Amino acid sequence: MKIISDVHKLQHICLDLRSQGKKIALVPTMGYFHEGHLSLMRWARQNCEQLIVSLFVNPTQFAPNEDLEAYPRDLDRDKKLAQKEKVDILFTPKPEALYLPGHCTWVEVPDLAQNLCAKARPTHFRGVATIVCKLFNLTLPHLAVFGQKDWQQLTIIKRMVKDLNLPIEVVGRPIVREPDGLAMSSRNTYLTPAERKQASFIYKGLLMAQTMVKQTHVQAETIKNALKEFYKKNLPSGKIDYIELVHPEQLTPVSLIDQPTLLAVAIFLGHARLIDNIVLRV
Ligand code: PAF
Repeated sequence: MKIISDVHKLQHICLDLRSQGKKIALVPTMGYFHEGHLSLMRWARQNCEQLIVSLFVNPTQFAPNEDLEAYPRDLDRDKKLAQKEKVDILFTPKPEALYLPGHCTWVEVPDLAQNLCAKARPTHFRGVATIVCKLFNLTLPHLAVFGQKDWQQLTIIKRMVKDLNLPIEVVGRPIVREPDGLAMSSRNTYLTPAERKQASFIYKGLLMAQTMVKQTHVQAETIKNALKEFYKKNLPSGKIDYIELVHPEQLTPVSLIDQPTLLAVAIFLGHARLIDNIVLRV
């Protein structure tokens, strides 16, 4: 496995790989790998000839009051895990190599960055779209693989690729969960043991909503109210940021659940803000 931090070196290698006709897959990450990341790498490994994983805690997607400094990092451990997954190139740039002085170009997908996480994090998706676009330009992948836990992010990146005519297939892969249902996330490390116990109820609430929908066509408001009650009872230390029911691709609010609908939630728990989602099927 090559470990590259130089932006030009990476781009040069990728141009070379493309000219040799190699199929390249990119898995963009912020590191501190867990099974969720590894599952993306495994899927990509089976579907490409050259697997590139980027490991970069992107400062522009964090607001000043957020956890950029605290975000967990362990490069040595990540290197070992990436090697085990047969990654060909681990790209580990420094922020100053990706954001040169005077950087002022941004990629925005405003229609999809209005509700859900964008309400509490209004500049987040501009940072995500910009860094992902830069990573695409550096690595020239045929395939780019993302987790469905960040559903809004995935939807925004798909839209960006379509709107900018980028020749990249964006693949979303299922959420990987802990045995008790909690969606894997690097931020789960912020939880105290008591918070961690409560956190498992986030997904249990989503499953409860799925059961409600299976029985009859339900109003979104009914599900929201039931979930609010469920979380109040089972996640007493949590503070709901949002519970939203939206169209899975347009991310616009849905009032009656009579077609596949994304139920997405974000909950503040201790020092963590945890997100999760499920596509409700009638
Ligand atoms: O999902 C993430 O880890 C990040 O938002 C991403 C896509 C790597 C961009 O920094």
